[in-house]
Amino acid sequence: MPKLASYNGKVDSIENIKVSPMSRAFLFSDSVYEVISFYKNKFIDFETHLDRLNHSLNETKISCSIEDCKTEIVKLLNESKFEDGYIYYQVSRGVDSIRSHFFEESDCERFGFIEEFSFFNQSPLKVMLVDDIRWQRCDIKSTSLLGNVLQMNDAKSAGCNEILMHKNGELTEGGASNIFFVKDKTIFTPELSPNILPGITRHQVIKIIKDKKLNFEEGSYGMDDLKEASSIWFTSTTKGIVGVEEIVNLETKINPECELLEICKNAFIKRYFS
Ligand code: PDD
Repeated sequence: MPKLASYNGKVDSIENIKVSPMSRAFLFSDSVYEVISFYKNKFIDFETHLDRLNHSLNETKISCSIEDCKTEIVKLLNESKFEDGYIYYQVSRGVDSIRSHFFEESDCERFGFIEEFSFFNQSPLKVMLVDDIRWQRCDIKSTSLLGNVLQMNDAKSAGCNEILMHKNGELTEGGASNIFFVKDKTIFTPELSPNILPGITRHQVIKIIKDKKLNFEEGSYGMDDLKEASSIWFTSTTKGIVGVEEIVNLETKINPECELLEICKNAFIKRYFS
């Protein structure tokens, strides 16, 4: 069955949607996006995703009404028959008359599609430690993801399904997720900075950690912390919380059985998926 999609407010089969090759999304990756999950027909943390989309729009100076985005995302969910899944939604600066780095005032271009997805049965990840070669504004959820794409596909050739990035030895995040690790019964995560995306699942997991009064620290961490970690977790809208079974290019002491991971995972499922 063809995917259901939305283009500038009109919901249609994805095959009927035609996009101009002069779209700045196509020419420059001049666009920002969100991935929003829904379970039993209800969005998870919808307003938080809209706030982050608004942040990305403001930081990139793309003018677009967040209310229009909200209406279109809701319409896409209502017109689909899916119970559980996610919506991918992007906003570009629009269609240009010439390909110019200098943008002019134009109507934004909005595109989204809906995908059915089951949030359970995530297998532990095999990851590769790589240099973070991305730009310096990773707090913006931009569709310009070439750094992530290149590094993730190198890792895939080595049998991995995620990467763990570091910038000059400082841990940042995964290719499409945030990271947590456990050392000496404390849970650690890199602090927010322009080098990482403020993940909504990261925020949800931190809330759970604080509610459960588990030992927790946000800061700046390096390779030695990873080598001593007993467990490493990745978080994202589509992965939820998932443990790492191996870092293929780093010797670690990680053990897939982690009591703190189980506590957080169970609380996460209870809060968002029951
Ligand atoms: N990615 N860091 C990066 C680089 C990401 O691309 C993502 C999410 C996250 C986690 O953010 P959140 O918990 O809000 O999903 C962190 C989405 C799922 C994607 O690009 O498909």
